[in-house]
Amino acid sequence: MASAREDTSDLGLSYPRNKLKILLLEGIHENAVKHLARAGYTAVTRLPHALSGEELRDALSKAHVIGIRSRTQLTAEVLAEARRLFAIGCFCIGTNQVDLSAAAKLGIPVFNAPHSNTRSVAELVIAELVMLFRGLGDKNTATHEGRWTKSASGSYELRGKTLGIVGYGHIGSQVSILAEAMGLRVLYYDVEPKLAMGNARPTRTLAELLEVADAVTLHVPEDPSTRGLFDAARIAQLKPGARLINASRGSVVDLDALAAAIREGKVGGAAVDVYPKEPRSKDEPFVSPLQGLPNVVLTPHIGGSTLEAQENIGVEVADKLVAYSDYGSSLGAVNFPNISLTPHLGAANRLLHVHENRPGVLGAINRVLGDEDVNILGQHLQTNAELGFVVADVDQGHSSDLLERLRAVPGTIRCRILY
Ligand code: NAI
Repeated sequence: MASAREDTSDLGLSYPRNKLKILLLEGIHENAVKHLARAGYTAVTRLPHALSGEELRDALSKAHVIGIRSRTQLTAEVLAEARRLFAIGCFCIGTNQVDLSAAAKLGIPVFNAPHSNTRSVAELVIAELVMLFRGLGDKNTATHEGRWTKSASGSYELRGKTLGIVGYGHIGSQVSILAEAMGLRVLYYDVEPKLAMGNARPTRTLAELLEVADAVTLHVPEDPSTRGLFDAARIAQLKPGARLINASRGSVVDLDALAAAIREGKVGGAAVDVYPKEPRSKDEPFVSPLQGLPNVVLTPHIGGSTLEAQENIGVEVADKLVAYSDYGSSLGAVNFPNISLTPHLGAANRLLHVHENRPGVLGAINRVLGDEDVNILGQHLQTNAELGFVVADVDQGHSSDLLERLRAVPGTIRCRILY
């Protein structure tokens, strides 16, 4: 496989960065271009739209690095023809537009920006808490329609209420900090032990949290443990009149059950940003059992959609691409063994060896290095189910055919030397 691809062995600190061709599609934020330029990568083409078919294949045949958002489909077939490509940046959260396994088999890491919009989601949740405790959604609609619904009935301050956070990761813990600043008491439940922010307290079980929380906000990932987590039975465990917020993933809440609980007055309101079935474009209609219900705030999956998040994404992904290209750090790659590296010292060369995860490869690499009498200054190995990634810092006294000998190691997918 490696032999069919362009020799990119000299891509690295000695390679003129301004010759590395970077193609950015789908109107990626100009921050990314600025950030790449600051690191010396100036051969950047930025297009406002997605590419597909022949156009995509043609553009990819010249690119060393590609940046996309959600619309460009990087299938196994497309990737197989991208002979120069050595890294992919998804300037968004999702990566299912890329055939991750095919990219891995070609030794191409895929990077994304999972946390650039954390703050945007957390702020939306705080706004929704205020909306749900003051009935702002309904009052706004009524006032627009010419009805004057001035009343304190059903309106509450957030101060002193108890917020239950389910999933205390990046977003959940940010919500925790902001909520405490608003005077809420914060409880959280996570399947893993998490450091409490401020005065927040963990609960041992989810039931314990649901029993006392005046509002519950969900910040769990989509996985088998969270699919249908808030079904009819769980919704029935909420404190009577509690508000529910879901800005995580649509599969986490059974919306029919939630709609029924709201109609029966058991749940006092809900804010929902994500749905089991979401329109693919503005032209498709949106349908939900929650439409038209009282004190229900519906938003079209915009929790993370702010201009600041777009700017942050530009920098976060560009940073990861530069770190991989400059010194081989694969930290944050979603399909590739993660090794966090700092730039190697001037006295050293860095070998990057990507191989199929099978027994004996590390031994074979070290035998080659031993035969060459190369002095290993530092070495890292990381594997995932498919791949192994070895990084070795070596002194500079090696022969010119070291790279070829390493490429001949059975199972090798790619090998680069950074000078
Ligand atoms: P994260 O990975 O940092 O945190 C998730 C937390 O949930 C982890 O602490 C994990 O241990 C915990 N967890 C996992 N399974 C659990 C379970 N069954 N019960 C309780 N806790 C569980 O993720 P992050 O960045 O905080 O994102 C959270 C969610 O927000 C994700 O589903 C993500 O897709 C979604 N999201 C939605 C956006 C929007 O536009 N509405 C934008 C960004 C993220």
